[in-house]
Amino acid sequence: MAQVVMANSFRGGTGKSTIISNLASYLASVGMKTVVVDADVISPGVHAIFGLDSTSMSTTLTDYLNGDARISEAVYDVSTNLSLTENSLLLVPGSITSTTIAELVSQKKTAERLVKGIPQLIKEFKPDVIMIDTHPGLNDEFLVMSDVAHVLLNIVRPDNQDYQGLRVSAGVAKKLGMKNYVVLNKIHHQIKQPKLRQTIASTYNLPIAGALPLSDDIILSQSQYVFSEKYPEHDFSKGIYEIAANVFGIKHKNHLETMHDLLADINSGKVDQKKLWSHEHMTQAAFKEYVDELQREKFVKKEKGLYVLTDKGKKFLKKYRAISKFVDNFRL
Ligand SMILES: Nc1ncnc2c1ncn2[C@@H]1O[C@H](COP(=O)(O)OP(=O)(O)OP(=O)(O)O)[C@@H](O)[C@H]1O
Ligand SMILES: [Mg+2]
Repeated sequence: MAQVVMANSFRGGTGKSTIISNLASYLASVGMKTVVVDADVISPGVHAIFGLDSTSMSTTLTDYLNGDARISEAVYDVSTNLSLTENSLLLVPGSITSTTIAELVSQKKTAERLVKGIPQLIKEFKPDVIMIDTHPGLNDEFLVMSDVAHVLLNIVRPDNQDYQGLRVSAGVAKKLGMKNYVVLNKIHHQIKQPKLRQTIASTYNLPIAGALPLSDDIILSQSQYVFSEKYPEHDFSKGIYEIAANVFGIKHKNHLETMHDLLADINSGKVDQKKLWSHEHMTQAAFKEYVDELQREKFVKKEKGLYVLTDKGKKFLKKYRAISKFVDNFRL
C-alpha cells in the first residue's frame, strides 16, 4: 500500500515545494516509485523544479478538479528530466493558467475531488509513495486530505510565527489521525542545530524528521532544478536523506558505499538487475559504461571473473569527494 505524505506549513515560503521535490527525487532514486501531487492549485510550482515545461502540461490537476479530465490524464513522467529510471517519478502538476485557476477557486469542490483522486492514482500507477504539496495554511485541502494522507511533514523555519502555526497545524493533524513530523528548514548557521532540535521536539512533543540549513546555494538554484540531485554532498541534501531515513526508514548510501555494494552485487552473481538499475538510477548501458570506465582508469580489475579494487582504486575510494565527482561524470 502506498504511503501518502503531505507537506504543509501554516505560513508561506517555508520550503515545502523545495523539500517535497528533493525528497521525492531522492526516494525515486533509491527505488521507491513516487508520485508528487502539486495540490497547491492556487500557486503551483513543483513542475518548475522538476524541469517540466508548462507548455507541455496539456492536462493538469486543475483540469481534473474542474471535472474536465481524469486524474490519470494529468500524470507526467519527470524521471528522465532527472536521470532517473523511467516511470520512477511522476508528477501531477497544477495549472498555471489564470482562467483555469480562477474557475477552480470559485468552485470550492477542490478538496473533495482531490481526496477522490488519490486512490485512483494508487490504483492506476501503483506507487510506493505519494507526496502532496499544499498551499500554506489550514485550508479545505489540508483538512480533507487527512482522509487519505498518513503522514504530515510540518515544515517550519526557526521563527516564532512559524512555531505558533506549527502548534495549530500539528494539533489539527493529530486530531485527524495523521502522524506528524517537524522539518526545520532555513536554519541560519549561527543557530545551534542540536539545541534547536531539542527545544522544538520537547516544546511541541513532535519528532524531528530533519533539519536543513539556510543556504545561499539553494537560493541561487532559483528553483530551476532538484538541488540534491546535482549536489548530493551538500548539507541541504544530507537533510533530505535524514528525512528519508526518519520517515521512510531509508539508509542513505554515499557513492563510496554504493560502489562497494555494486561491486559486491556483481561479484556475487546474484544481481537482481531490475532492482540494481532502478536503485542506482542508471540505465543498464550507463552502468556498463561506468564499470568500464572504472576498469579503464585502473580503479577496478577483473580477476578470475570477479571485479576487484586495485591499490589505486582503494586509495581513490578513500577520497570520497573525488569518487562522487568521478561517479557524477558518468551519470547520463
Ligand atoms: N534551505 C533553504 N535555504 C535557502 N533558501 C531556501 C531553502 N529552502 C527553500 N528555499 C527558497 O525559499 C523559497 C521558497 O521555497 P518554496 O517555494 O519551496 O517554499 P513553499 O513553502 O513551497 O512556498 P509557498 O508557501 O509559497 O508554496 C524558494 O526561493 C526556495 O528556493
Ligand atoms: Mg510551494
